[in-house]
Amino acid sequence: MASVSQQGQFWDRVTEQAQPLDEALRLIESLIPTEAIRDRDVLDAGCGAGDYSAAFGQVGARSVTAFDVSTGSLRLAVGKTPAGRFARASLSELPYRSASFDVIWSWGVLHYVPNAQAAMREIVRVLRPGGVAVVHTLRTGFWSSFEAAGAKLFSAAPSWVEPLVLSGGERIVPLVTRLLTGRRPEEQTSKTVRQKIHERLFVPGEQRTFTLEQLVKGFGPSVETSQAHPPVADLLNRNMSITVVVRKPR
Ligand SMILES: C[S@@+](CC[C@H](N)C(=O)[O-])C[C@H]1O[C@@H](n2cnc3c(N)ncnc32)[C@H](O)[C@@H]1O
Repeated sequence: MASVSQQGQFWDRVTEQAQPLDEALRLIESLIPTEAIRDRDVLDAGCGAGDYSAAFGQVGARSVTAFDVSTGSLRLAVGKTPAGRFARASLSELPYRSASFDVIWSWGVLHYVPNAQAAMREIVRVLRPGGVAVVHTLRTGFWSSFEAAGAKLFSAAPSWVEPLVLSGGERIVPLVTRLLTGRRPEEQTSKTVRQKIHERLFVPGEQRTFTLEQLVKGFGPSVETSQAHPPVADLLNRNMSITVVVRKPR
């Protein structure tokens, strides 16, 4: 598994090409009622370029706090939510007091964290009683194993391979996607094909995958963890991911 600083350096490079995520607000609203966000304290855990943080601000959160291991991503995120509180931190060791947040959002992060068990404990610790956490991560299955095998191969390849694969993929993937689904990739997500190939195939180290049972067990008996099915438009992402809603009783 890659160290937290290797992850940070990799995502500093990915974020340089990041496009604004048009679907951020839609996904948040599909999973958390607006009234549970308005005037509440929100944590965006592994905020990347900060599109979800900004969307929480738009919905009317009282405060938006966010962290990531990538300083390049944080720089972009601060620009999108100037009133937010941003920090460089890892999901497995949070610099916040227990029971600090009403809403915690962690989209596409848990599978990169070296100590996922500690990360799940930290989410439960900083969530307030009555609060809700949404965690979207990689699901154990054929597609995620396929991607993990690709990432293992390409992330260890010599550095000249990366630009070749990115520019070749940029041409081939849209053709294959249209052939298989009848839709252009940009109809599925506002992320560019280049960014998706980069983050999926060149991410350093191993990515973990999770079953629902592992997530339920990982978050533990003090919370209620259930699976949710957000309208993720990106077909590959939908087939490889799992989303859970974690509720902490009052
Ligand atoms: C696929 S991106 C998702 C970013 C953002 N949540 C989004 O959906 O736009 C994964 C993010 O996880 C961050 N990350 C990786 N390991 C992390 C860790 N241990 N703690 C916090 N963030 C981490 C990366 O820096 C990157 O920004």
